[in-house]
Amino acid sequence: MLLAMRRRRIKVFVETGLENIRYLTGFTGSSAFLIMSEKKSTLLTDSRYTSQAREEVKKHGFTVKIYKKEVFSAIATEIKKLSFTGSVGVDGSAMSYVAFGKLKAALKPIRLRALPNITGPLRMVKEGAELELIKKAASILEGGFRRARRFLRPGAVERVVARKVEDYFVSRGAEGVSFESIVASGHRGALPHGKASEKEIQRGELVVMDMGVSYKGYCSDGTRTFAVGKATALQKKIYRIVKEAQLSAIEKISDGVSASSVDSAARTHIRKAGYGKYFGHGTGHGIGLAVHEGPGLGPKSTDVLTEGMVVTVEPGIYLPDWGGVRIEDMVLVKKEGCELITNSPEKLLCI
Ligand code: GLY
Ligand code: MN
Ligand code: MN
Repeated sequence: MLLAMRRRRIKVFVETGLENIRYLTGFTGSSAFLIMSEKKSTLLTDSRYTSQAREEVKKHGFTVKIYKKEVFSAIATEIKKLSFTGSVGVDGSAMSYVAFGKLKAALKPIRLRALPNITGPLRMVKEGAELELIKKAASILEGGFRRARRFLRPGAVERVVARKVEDYFVSRGAEGVSFESIVASGHRGALPHGKASEKEIQRGELVVMDMGVSYKGYCSDGTRTFAVGKATALQKKIYRIVKEAQLSAIEKISDGVSASSVDSAARTHIRKAGYGKYFGHGTGHGIGLAVHEGPGLGPKSTDVLTEGMVVTVEPGIYLPDWGGVRIEDMVLVKKEGCELITNSPEKLLCI
């Protein structure tokens, strides 16, 4: 972190993003500011977290301080104790404009600079302990998808199916979901992010289920598309195109490969099959403490994949009024190639 600060010529940096704070210090509470400098780093939080912060943060060598009154003047007081010259940087991606203005006023005459999320890139490559938690979150998710097959029956309500699978996640040790569950059946499958609704699932429909769990802070994210009853030729064809697109993207993944070329592999396949305009979103994203984090696997991404990154690969085809197919797996980037953390079926599963 200090290296990232040096590169930006910043001697003092204030982090406000909770996932970044958790990554750097171990603190899991819902409110904190982390003031980092070469000399001293202080986690500032409120009295709700007095014992928890001392417990979680001590092993990381940060000082914990509980503020009593107004947080921005408390941050300014801490910063002014550090003798340094120059401006203070703040994670501009994690602070509201109003909060920025208040901190800026409290810090005067020291200048406050909004920087990009400089902690985020440090989180992209996962360590062994992080990988274990991600893999556990992924295995709970896969268990949920297996369990879901019991609930996907004609007449079942999307929201009820989602809740039953979510209950399964919790029974297997998940803290909860990593994002609002998507269960989109029939024509609703054409909504890439059609969250579970009151709609009843009908025989003959495809159902897109995109779910994820959080386990000890780490996320999983995956999508399965099922057919309820016998699948039509078109349903099978669209599934096959999406699966082939996913496999061509996965084949590309290796240390040193540009993220945009992975996106391009999936996109080119779908375009050549004649469905290019029905695949609008990026091919995937990094995942860890946040369900969406760097690197981005989209056409404009400038990220380069590195051994130890965990990314999703999730192409889809969405046909208005007909429905959709998305297949999403989590992948670990290796020195040579990659390892699948989750495994979606090769062929469309008919339930
Ligand atoms: N569940 C959101 C996504 O797949 O990115
Ligand atoms: Mn995803
Ligand atoms: Mn997803």
